[in-house]
Amino acid sequence: MSLQEKERFLVTSALPYANGYIHLGHCAGAYLPADIYVRFLRLMGKPTLWICGSDEHGVAITIAAEKEGVSPKEIIDKYHFANKEAFDKFGMSFDIYSRTSLPIHHETAREFFRDFLQKGYLIEREEEQFFDPVANMFLPDRYVEGVCPNCGYNQARGDQCDNCGAYYNQLDLISPKSLISGQKPIVKKTTHWFFRFDLFQEFMENYIESHAKDWKENVVQQSRSWLKQGMKERAITRDLSWGVSIEGIEGIDPAKAKGKVMYVWFEAVLGYISGTKHLVEELRKKNNSVEFSWEDWWKNENTHYIAFIGKDNIVFHTLLFPTILYARNEGFILPENVPANEFLNLEGQKFSKSRNWTIDLKDFIEEFPNASSIDALRYALACNLPETKDSDFSWKDFQTRNNSELASIFGNFVNRTIQFLHKNFGGKVPTLSDKYKNLRTEWDLLVSQLLNDENISNNEFQSLGPNEIELARGLVKSFQNATHNLYNFKFRDAVFEIMNSARFANKYFNDEEPWKTLKSNPEQCAKTLFLCSQLLYSFAVFFSPIIPFTTEKLFESLGKTPTVGQPNYGTSQENTWERILKLNLDEGDEIKNPNILFPNIDDKIIQKQIDKLGKSPEDLWKEKSKDRIKYEDFSKVQLRTAKITHAERVKKSKKLIKLQIDLGNETRQIVAGIGEHYSPEELLGKTIVVVVNLEPAKLMGVESDGMLLAASTQDGSKLTLITTLTEIEPGSVVK
Ligand code: MF3
Ligand code: ZN
Repeated sequence: MSLQEKERFLVTSALPYANGYIHLGHCAGAYLPADIYVRFLRLMGKPTLWICGSDEHGVAITIAAEKEGVSPKEIIDKYHFANKEAFDKFGMSFDIYSRTSLPIHHETAREFFRDFLQKGYLIEREEEQFFDPVANMFLPDRYVEGVCPNCGYNQARGDQCDNCGAYYNQLDLISPKSLISGQKPIVKKTTHWFFRFDLFQEFMENYIESHAKDWKENVVQQSRSWLKQGMKERAITRDLSWGVSIEGIEGIDPAKAKGKVMYVWFEAVLGYISGTKHLVEELRKKNNSVEFSWEDWWKNENTHYIAFIGKDNIVFHTLLFPTILYARNEGFILPENVPANEFLNLEGQKFSKSRNWTIDLKDFIEEFPNASSIDALRYALACNLPETKDSDFSWKDFQTRNNSELASIFGNFVNRTIQFLHKNFGGKVPTLSDKYKNLRTEWDLLVSQLLNDENISNNEFQSLGPNEIELARGLVKSFQNATHNLYNFKFRDAVFEIMNSARFANKYFNDEEPWKTLKSNPEQCAKTLFLCSQLLYSFAVFFSPIIPFTTEKLFESLGKTPTVGQPNYGTSQENTWERILKLNLDEGDEIKNPNILFPNIDDKIIQKQIDKLGKSPEDLWKEKSKDRIKYEDFSKVQLRTAKITHAERVKKSKKLIKLQIDLGNETRQIVAGIGEHYSPEELLGKTIVVVVNLEPAKLMGVESDGMLLAASTQDGSKLTLITTLTEIEPGSVVK
């Protein structure tokens, strides 16, 4: 069967503006839930695409550039790469993280614009706009602030109110104020192109009503209330130099098009399409047998299109984008669901960058670089997703989720099972005695009866006792509920159900008392541990959408190469999810002992994080430098000069460079994360400073024996090596 006929899922997450760092509130809004969802779909064997990227135009970007005193291009580069990397470390399994500054995006947006001009949906007209006479410029969108005509909020923007979600024409803003000069703007005429949204009122009403039952209430309500006011013509161009230019588009007077770009929302949503084109291009480059085109996803009735967003993006995804897709009249599909989340708060207050009341994802990763902590964050956020109302992230909750749930329930089961196997069964899946030889067939029968809701009669089973039946019941229930919840965007409930399966497993272990049967009934003991081993595999699959880094480790200790977490574009339709209820391991399979999966996080660490909230980076720096150490402590660090004799990049890594260094009396290999700042060639022959008495470590599998010193800016954008002012013998002591 070709992709054409298969049911497939196209998933998008709102494209974050590349004007700031992603924080935990964003993660809980449109990214983590989508990641859990696509990981689940891929496991189900469903062809799936997950598209995201940076939104790099609009006034949000130009204002950030003005604030930081750099060009918009510098801003988007800085934040695009920083956010891409943070998302990656957070385990966001996007199929592509694209950018709206790419030519392919500009072409796509211009194509839509041209088509709408031809179809007569765009009207050129002179209109009045706010103009700042001091700055001598028009004031699109965020350049003006005022009182929302809809709800009265007094920091509403020129195009959109952050408080109530209303989306209006800027002249409707009450008491407008220029963000540049702080003055009241004047009104001046300029030419713009207006999209005839009014033509699509009826179509959109039907579209929204057709989803009145399956969309979240909040999403339907906001869309309805906007439709009630009537879809109006709206300018989709702006007087700005940064954005997708309309100059040179066929059918527009070049003189009038000069200095005009598209309204950011009009083109940003098209980033989902250009991102898909970008992905197909990338895949073709890597492997020319890619069999699908972007249209197979966007113009096919078998596609379920799901758009994940935060609540401030609702009307753009339920009305504006669908109108654009429909108006194109080329068979584009519309969102089937728009599961918008509410907002996440932090320790009871709104996230606020200006008040330093925030946790940027990249800062979290810096403080907690271990895979287990990243998974703990994913889990804690998933348990608290703002699905139906605003919710809260607190450090205490994060600690409790880690210590009392991940470690004490999930980790405990994994740990006690593997310990027991190593102590008593040579670290292998136990062999079943003749008494239990039908266990596999009986288990499959029991599970299928439970799945079909049939009555279970105990007498039917010789190899399975009441404890196994109870275990299977619990597992099947968790599985069914979790599956249902995942399909219906109820991720909190799904996560709860998944953790329940580990509760059932612990109960089974307790009830079977293998530490007693080991002596009194070894055959039963072997059976108990046989089933517990199987559960390890089931959990490696079941938990993988939530804690993918940990389940990967678990798979490794089971000696299985995970097919889990890989892209699925439709070539394989294997349903791995089903394996959760099956017995996947063979008797005698070896099970290695992984390190503790979720180390305890103690109060001190948590308190340190809590204390940071609300403090500026300057305050934190001052506090840090107050933490004085003794000279003895410093002198433990042995520093020496070294000459670089050989340098090469570590394969598949942008950052890592492998160096051979001469320390006078010995040569060593070290690996350093400087590949984005230096090429191997320019490092050769340089004299650097190295910590020589650090424990060796492996970076991407490559041994590193020592660490070089380098200075870098707070955000890591600049880095320079520490070298000596004049030549000195390698191995000289630095103190
Ligand atoms: N950049 C917008 C925001 O952060 C979201 C854009 S979603 C898109 O609110 F679809 F328009 F790209
Ligand atoms: Zn409002």
